[in-house]
Amino acid sequence: MDLELEKMLRPPEYDMPLYPPKVITLATGGQMVVRPIERDEVPIVLKAVKPTMKIDRDFYDVVGSRLYSELLSWQKYRCRNAYALIGQVDGILVGCVNGRMLSKKVGISLHTLAIERGIRAGAHLFAAKMEHHIEFLGQKEVWITAESPIGFRRWMIEYELIKQEGVQHELGGAESFKLSRELYFKHKPRLVAGLRPCPPDLLEKARKEIIIADEDMINKQICGAKGAWNK
Ligand SMILES: CC(C)(COP(=O)(O)OP(=O)(O)OC[C@H]1O[C@@H](n2cnc3c(N)ncnc32)[C@H](O)[C@@H]1OP(=O)(O)O)[C@@H](O)C(=O)NCCC(=O)NCCS
Repeated sequence: MDLELEKMLRPPEYDMPLYPPKVITLATGGQMVVRPIERDEVPIVLKAVKPTMKIDRDFYDVVGSRLYSELLSWQKYRCRNAYALIGQVDGILVGCVNGRMLSKKVGISLHTLAIERGIRAGAHLFAAKMEHHIEFLGQKEVWITAESPIGFRRWMIEYELIKQEGVQHELGGAESFKLSRELYFKHKPRLVAGLRPCPPDLLEKARKEIIIADEDMINKQICGAKGAWNK
């Protein structure tokens, strides 16, 4: 590798604090560990994202493809100030979110993908992402867009996000909405769940192995009857 050239190709990065892991007790009684991933865990997470790229339902194909590319770019140092969080229940990957810092003050929400549906994994992970930007990265606001109607209901409506006139979001230049610190703290008691510290045994299990459901199961879960995994 030409190290001098590589140095030029890599965007400079802030020193970003890591998201402190937590555990959320789901409505089903399951315990979802929410934690940040390291770059060396990206290939395994991509195994769960890949099948979603072909699912022409609820914009899974668009979001899955974009998330795949963003995670890969971050792993290979081609995405600036990025991070990713995952949710695991019994070690199984049930969802993934990612974002980045545009500046010290402004956070960019990139994607939210629920691999297991019907347990609000996506909603909880999105909330964790907002928590990260506002509370741990200490940002003033987060810029958010939605590619899907479900996303629009979950984020724009539930958090009463502020439409930013004349601001294009970096995801395709779509309409950008803003979560301010005030809005975050207003909705936090209702939407941001979980306990810290995450019990060490749960965290150790989650870190030891990210279990990926096979492609058939992921398809069934996303396209099949509501809550197929949890019955
Ligand atoms: C948006 C998203 C992250 C929300 O995840 P979530 O909070 O875990 O919610 P689910 O996807 O399980 O359920 C959302 C709705 O779809 C319905 N649904 C449709 N198919 C379903 C299935 N196979 N299993 C469970 N629920 C299903 C649910 O009834 C639920 O309805 P509700 O909004 O009235 O509760 C997730 O739907 C997703 O990953 N979608 C594709 C990518 C995407 O759109 N990302 C957001 C971009 S802005």
